[in-house]
Amino acid sequence: MSELGMSDKAVLSCRNLGKSYDEGPESVVVLANLQLELQAGERVAIVGSSGSGKSTLLNMLGGLDTPSEGSVWLAGEELSALNERDRGLLRNRALGFVYQFHHLLAEFTALENVCMPLLIGKTPIPEAKERATALLTRVGLGHRLSHKPSELSGGERQRVAIARALVNRPGLVMLDEPTGNLDQHTAQGIQDLMQELSTSLNTAFLVVTHDLSLARQMDRVLKLEEGHLVPI
Ligand SMILES: Nc1ncnc2c1ncn2[C@@H]1O[C@H](COP(=O)(O)OP(=O)(O)OP(=O)(O)O)[C@@H](O)[C@H]1O
Ligand SMILES: [Mg+2]
Repeated sequence: MSELGMSDKAVLSCRNLGKSYDEGPESVVVLANLQLELQAGERVAIVGSSGSGKSTLLNMLGGLDTPSEGSVWLAGEELSALNERDRGLLRNRALGFVYQFHHLLAEFTALENVCMPLLIGKTPIPEAKERATALLTRVGLGHRLSHKPSELSGGERQRVAIARALVNRPGLVMLDEPTGNLDQHTAQGIQDLMQELSTSLNTAFLVVTHDLSLARQMDRVLKLEEGHLVPI
């Protein structure tokens, strides 16, 4: 245990996390005094009704939004202690993030989108292409490498976003409704890939989902309710 009381193995932790939005004279509290700790290789699902704050939580844990209260540690670094540039570098190195609405780069092909985190990390282009191609093939898109996002279906775009999040082999991957657009068979393929990576590379996964059958295959399921996470 460190002096902060966190386990040194934690890939992600947050303490007393809070988020509220000012709506005129009123303040809307979305998250309050929330605690979470994720160990290397652990797979955790977050469920909760629409509007309960799941995306807000993920965005805060991934350093994409700033908490109103509390702190987040990613790979042992406190996010608020880093400047914008260092936070970006840490994110690229340690975190894969799949947005609820994929956020692919429109002018680039599927292959180029997946290569991007590797190129930012200075991987040579031939190696980046090889690894990106292998992963896109693994998610069933080997025949769509040169398609741009506008030429892909919703589920195909989501799979490109998943491949992009995994390609750098980060210690932690956060996914916001990754299988919402996917049929059962493809969704199970993504689930199997997560299981395999958590075992072989010790990758941790934090997944927001409405799919209870997917959630139940994870190591832990937490429900976001009234600003808190409760085990179910
Ligand atoms: N920028 C904002 N300003 C004000 N309120 C916001 C803002 N962003 C989110 N909210 C509110 O915070 C609450 C949580 O939103 P969030 O997107 O985190 O929900 P969610 O659990 O991800 O829902 P869904 O399952 O529909 O994706 C909602 O009530 C939303 O209206
Ligand atoms: Mg959401």
